[in-house]
Amino acid sequence: MDAPAPTPFSTLIRTASHQQHTEAENTSFMSDMLGGRLGLAAYRRYTEQLWFVYQALEAGSGALSADPVAGPFIRPELARAAQLERDLAHLGGPGWRTDLVPLPATAAYAARIEDCARTWPAGYVAHHYTRYLGDLSGGQIIRGTAEKTWGFERKGDGVRFYVFEAIGNPAAFKREYRSLLDALPVDDLEKQRVIEECRRAFALNTAVFEALGREFPLSA
Ligand code: HEM
Repeated sequence: MDAPAPTPFSTLIRTASHQQHTEAENTSFMSDMLGGRLGLAAYRRYTEQLWFVYQALEAGSGALSADPVAGPFIRPELARAAQLERDLAHLGGPGWRTDLVPLPATAAYAARIEDCARTWPAGYVAHHYTRYLGDLSGGQIIRGTAEKTWGFERKGDGVRFYVFEAIGNPAAFKREYRSLLDALPVDDLEKQRVIEECRRAFALNTAVFEALGREFPLSA
């Protein structure tokens, strides 16, 4: 009798991070943002943190594009740094970058991504998955809320980060992305480590939201 087909890696990583996904979604900062209860200053501060994260994800990605493990994931249509910069120029004016410093939680998150990008391509994939697949999914919900709450033009300046102009069919793109995960050329032990890194990536995100929540508590 044939052995049952092994569970695809894309399913394993999604299932393994499901609980942390719920935790991240339910942080007070995220739920206040999605509930339209935060001011524009909070959204700007959040977008600034994202800029540090995507700098870390994308500044080192060129060097990884020929890597057999991480290379297939590096797709120009995902890159977000330029869009974040347009959003931040809209939110903060041309001087948005002057004196901009990351929250300590953001600096720790970015440093971990940079470490992986430099030394552990499979770990970098865990961070790549956690952010970009999320942006293609729940990110769309955040965009809708941001447009409604703060009056940004639909898919315009302020929310360009959430708009993947070069991805015509996000559902098909996500399917393709999951097949890349399923074909990750590493052994089972390494896959387990990637899952652990994905959990760590979620925890690092949650720590940033918690820090933002402390900075922008609801007065209500
Ligand atoms: C309040 C905020 C959030 C909402 C409403 C949300 C919502 C969603 C939804 C509806 C999906 C499923 C989409 C689908 O099945 O195609 C999804 C997937 C995902 N989200 Fe979120 N999400 C949020 C926050 C986050 C955060 C903070 C992260 C991590 C940084 C994240 C990472 C992911 C990932 C990696 C997936 C893909 C799961 C997979 O199919 O493998 N999400 N999200």
